[in-house]
Formats: sequence, structure tokens, C-alpha cells
Amino acid sequence: MSKIYITTAIPYVNGTPHIGHSIDYLLADVFYRYHIKLGDEVRFQSGTDEHGNKVFSKAKDSGMDVRDYAKQNSQKFKEFISILEVKPTDFIRTTDEDHERRCQEIWKKLEKHIYKSSYEGWYCEGCENFVTQKERDENNGICPDHQKAYQKLSEENYYLRISDFKDKIIDAIESGKLPVLPDFRRREMLELLKDAPDVSISRPAKSLSWGVPVPNDDSQVMYVWIDALSNYITVLGYPDNDISDYWPATAQFVGKDILRFHTIIWPAMLLGLGLPLPKTICSHGHILSNGQKMSKSLGNVVDPVEVINKHGIEAFRYYFLRHIDTFVDSDFTWDKFEGAYNNELANDLGNLVQRLATLASKNNIVIELNQNKSIKKDKEYNELMHSFEFSKAFNYVWEKVQQINKDIDEKKPWELAKSGTKEEVFDCLNTLINDLLYANALLEPFLPGTAEKITEIFALNKKIIPPKTPLFPKSF
Ligand code: MSP
Repeated sequence: MSKIYITTAIPYVNGTPHIGHSIDYLLADVFYRYHIKLGDEVRFQSGTDEHGNKVFSKAKDSGMDVRDYAKQNSQKFKEFISILEVKPTDFIRTTDEDHERRCQEIWKKLEKHIYKSSYEGWYCEGCENFVTQKERDENNGICPDHQKAYQKLSEENYYLRISDFKDKIIDAIESGKLPVLPDFRRREMLELLKDAPDVSISRPAKSLSWGVPVPNDDSQVMYVWIDALSNYITVLGYPDNDISDYWPATAQFVGKDILRFHTIIWPAMLLGLGLPLPKTICSHGHILSNGQKMSKSLGNVVDPVEVINKHGIEAFRYYFLRHIDTFVDSDFTWDKFEGAYNNELANDLGNLVQRLATLASKNNIVIELNQNKSIKKDKEYNELMHSFEFSKAFNYVWEKVQQINKDIDEKKPWELAKSGTKEEVFDCLNTLINDLLYANALLEPFLPGTAEKITEIFALNKKIIPPKTPLFPKSF
């Protein structure tokens, strides 16, 4: 039994959850459920990132007090996580008092790597990120992700001396001590690190009032990313508590757009605090619609709650964990979703369960375990899960489901029922159902609700009753 710590990025509360937010949660949840199944002790963090100008401006636009606004949206993220059947053990809000106080302690511990200097340059409020002149020029003054002009900043800030840590971080990533996935992103990060400048880690309080105050300097507020990144350890109680049971994290899940913060500022902070680096940083791609970014102006935004309300959470999890590649950008379109629902979930799996349950019921089969296959011994599955290739692991499970369908067609148990002995019929159906139960065990981290139903239908030592409604009824 190991102690495992899994984290997700914490979304800004400047809006409500959208489909893209699902990915961090679902990937982390699969890894969480997988480790629970292996018998590990797991802590799984999630939460909301509530400070910064982006949130402050949106609260102002909506005419609400920023605290109320942040609370209301944080609650929506919490509800969304629960709709996804994702079950973090810890949920942190960066406006929690303990978090804010701990961030100030962290700042004090980093003080010897911090200096004050003036900043003249550009900032994107959408990314909450400082950008170089070169980057601004390359993008013609407009942030490509947010389609907003960069703001010109000229102010006194505190800086974190990245140069104190740069070589160590590069070495950790190159030597594999700090694994960054996938490999092409790891290489991108190494390129960025070569020229990484010191980073500004505060803003004057007059430009940014909504944030954690810098200790012993009322005129400055912490840069939102310092506050946000700290959440991964403040949620464990750092620096009040010894966190060595769960830190370093086993896996930190983040989107590709925020990987740079996790491979430059975050490791620098950890090294400055004398804490070990995470065991893996796993970055996922983005969800697109017909190859394009989802945006309100293009009218191609898909509301995740609409998908779930119409077709169920299991179908949602299925599409996003199997058809959205774990590491690269992938498409959600209604056509693809419908195809996956009808051909794969309803046909491959739903029908298989119905057919086997009906055959077993007609032939009075009471299941006996006829194999001692265990998830722990499934080398291919475990290798894929440990290397975070979740969509490939899901394909592997699905191949097993399809193989059982082929086996039924080949063995034709309905013919055997007419011509064979009772024993032959039992052996045939018992083997097929055992195969299904094994595939079902592998399926559980991905589709926990479906797996539970299948386990109930084919319970051992009990008469099988076929479900009255199919597992995946027609919903299109
Ligand atoms: N608040 C920061 C994260 C701080 S972590 C210490 C932030 N928030 S965010 O709301 O913009 O994004 C939250 C997560 O959602 C990130 O991992 C981001 O990559 C992910 N996604 C946002 N849009 C996405 C898609 N369209 N597709 C997939 N993931 C996307 O960044």
C-alpha cells in the first residue's frame, strides 16, 4: 500500500464551469479510482483560484461584491465536480483564511530569493501573465488565447530569482527526476527554461487589490500565480504541518496552457522551500470543436451540463476519457458523441450485457468464478495507467469488450442450449460472463456507475435477472 497524492489545476472563478474544465477533473479521477482499487491511501485535491484582476473585474461587471461573487462561482465548480462523479478528498478555495496565511509564510520562507525592482512591460489579464516585448510583437499586441490587447505595465514589483534554480530545474527535467508529460511538451518546457527570466511575483496594491497581501509591505499584493500554485501544499497544511506523507505529489494534472507555470515558477518555489519536486506533471491537450477553439463568438460552445442531462454522466465520461486523447487536442462534436454513444456504449457494451444476462437467465446460470485474473497482474493495463496513457488504457479495455462480443458470435451459446449438455452450456456462458466481469474491473476507474451496475447484474451465487431497461437506452 502506498500513499498517493493527486492534484488538479484550480480554475479561476471568473465564470462558470465549461467543458474544458472537465478534463483535469476526469483524468485525476481515473488515476484516483485506479489507486483506490490497488488499495493505496490517496489524497486528491481540487479547488478554486479566486484572486487576481480577472476575477475582480468580472465581479465588478456583474455588480457583485467580489467575495460573494467568488463564493457563488466556487460553489458552481464544486457542484460540477460532483456531477462528473469526481470525488476529491480535499477542496481548497484560495480565499480560505488558512490558505492566505500559509501563503504569507511561504513568501517569508522564500525571501532570500526575492528582490524588488521596477517592471516595464506587458501583461495579459486573461492569462494573468507577464509577457515579453518579443512575445507581444509576435502576437501583434493581442493575446491569441483571449483576443484582448496586452496592457502596458510600469510598476514596482517583487521578483523571484528564477536564476537561483534554473539549472537545477533543467537538470531535474532532463534527468527524469521531474517527469513532464507528454514528451513533446517536456521538450517545449526545456526550451522555455533556457531563457526564463526572473518572474514578477507581486503587483502594487493600487493596481491589484484582490489578492493576498505581501508580508510586511502593505503596498504590494501577491501575484495570483504565487498564491494559486501554493494551494497544492497549503491544502496539506504546509507549513504548519509535516506534509511528507503526501508530498511530493504522485501526479499533478494541468492543461497545456498552464504547464509553463508548473515547470518554471512552481519548481523554483519548491526548491526555494527545500521541498521535493512532484513525481509527475501530466499536461493534457485542449478540447476543440471541429478543430477550432470553442468560443461564444463562433457559437460552438458546448455546455457540459446539457450533455450530461441528456445522455448521462457515464456517456460523458466515456467520450471524454476515450475519445479525447489524454495528451493532445481533440474534438468534441455532437456527431462524434452520438456515434460513440450508439455504436460503442449502447451496442458494444449495453447489448453485450443484455445478451449475456438474458442467456444466463434463460439457462438458469449462477456464476462461479473460473479464473483468478487480477488487475494487479495485467501488465499492459498497469503500464498504460502508470504512464498516464488513459485513453489508450480505455482502448485496451474496450478491445476486451469487443473480443467478448466476437466470442459470443463464434460460440453461439443459444445453439449450444439446444444441442449441448447442461454442463457445456454452463461452461460457455460462465466463461463469457467471467471475461465480462474481468473487463468490468478494468473499466471501473473510467465508468464507475456502469461498472457498479454490471457487477450487480452478474453477482456471484445469485440468479441473474436481465435489466428491464438497457444500460444505454436510445437518447438521440
Ligand atoms: N487558475 C488557473 C490554474 C491555477 S493552478 C494552480 C487557470 N484556470 S483556468 O480556469 O483558466 O483553467 C483551469 C484548467 O482548465 C487548466 O488546466 C486549463 O488548461 C483547463 N482548460 C481550460 N480550457 C480548456 C479546454 N478548452 N480544454 C481542456 N482544458 C482546458 O488556468
